[in-house]
Amino acid sequence: MSRFARRVTQTSEKDFGMFARAMAHDGPLIHLELGRPVDDTPDHIKQATIDALRAGAVHYSDLQGLPELRTALAGKLARENDMAVTAEQILVTNGLTHASFAAFLALLDEGDEAILLEPYYPQHLGKIELAGATPVIAPLDAADGFRIRRALIEPHVTAATRMIVLVNPCNPTGRVYSREELQQIADLAIEHDLVVLTDEVYEQIVFDGARHISIASLPGMAERTVTMQAFTKAYAMDGWRVGYLAAPADFIAPLMKITTSEVTHVNTFIQHGALAAVTGPAEPLAEMIAGDKARRDLVVGRLNQMPGVTCPAPEGTIYAFPDISATGLGAREAALRLMAEAGVVVEAGSFYGPAGEGHLRVCFGAQPEEVLVEAMDRLQAFFNAL
Ligand SMILES: Cc1ncc(COP(=O)(O)O)c(C=O)c1O
Repeated sequence: MSRFARRVTQTSEKDFGMFARAMAHDGPLIHLELGRPVDDTPDHIKQATIDALRAGAVHYSDLQGLPELRTALAGKLARENDMAVTAEQILVTNGLTHASFAAFLALLDEGDEAILLEPYYPQHLGKIELAGATPVIAPLDAADGFRIRRALIEPHVTAATRMIVLVNPCNPTGRVYSREELQQIADLAIEHDLVVLTDEVYEQIVFDGARHISIASLPGMAERTVTMQAFTKAYAMDGWRVGYLAAPADFIAPLMKITTSEVTHVNTFIQHGALAAVTGPAEPLAEMIAGDKARRDLVVGRLNQMPGVTCPAPEGTIYAFPDISATGLGAREAALRLMAEAGVVVEAGSFYGPAGEGHLRVCFGAQPEEVLVEAMDRLQAFFNAL
């Protein structure tokens, strides 16, 4: 008999993709595989945290999250996401990772099914399994620009389906879904009485006038959507571990049954930093997003000059998702060879499921421009020599 529970022995191996392989690699590498923002956290956010720490914000606090932070977040969700929620409908979490863990555990039973759009975010798949439920994959079509089409999703809905998981803006494809695409998910969810769990960790990082729309703002969706956002990417706060979710009022107590069992609540003084992020000046955020756009333009421009590589400009996120199928290399083979032969680490598109085959995910948000130029020079030489 195994010493360990089935939830760890009979679920998929946790795969860290090229990151794990790069860690085991000898020699210097340029890392374009991890979605770790290049910028430092803005100073006013650090200062507010230091001030709170010095002022004694070192004790247990509200289990759901500081009321003043939740009130500020309700205001932000109304202003920026067109969502009418109260502070009571918000739960502060340790990053988006914690929000989604609580949501999967509180909403899925054994035997339930959750639909993931593919390419998917692998962490979601792992957590659905940890909840004892079954991930059901609905592949989107690369040739169609990974557009959401109801006809690709509806055949996967069964009597056991409980939820559809959305990542918008999408990691890894960089898509920012249009209202028409989101409406197709909304129609399906309403007709089949499903919950939508939406991962909006990149909601502020959108380019060229693209507008992020939260699916919870569509008619009939507020009562069936868990919206998850975080300070992680746009505020360069990935190591702080702070995010939040907004959900119908009756979801909060079940979700808190999970979060309070795990961590009681999120670190008190860190939440003061998060409060400064929501209520503070908008300029640092705008500057960082302008930096991401410049890095995106550089990387996408260079990728499109490489033989066999085509890369649409992502509408959002910090990832380019070039199609390399014309080179004849598989995604994993290309990623492994790029690491070994060019010293550049990118993720294989197939890491996000078979629909990502023939693609690479190149993070342009994690390195300064001069390093990106060097990485693109190396990729160019690699593809030229094939
Ligand atoms: C789609 C998606 N969701 C969640 C996360 C993790 O967010 P956090 O660090 O806030 O837990 C990431 C990080 O890369 C991500 O890409």
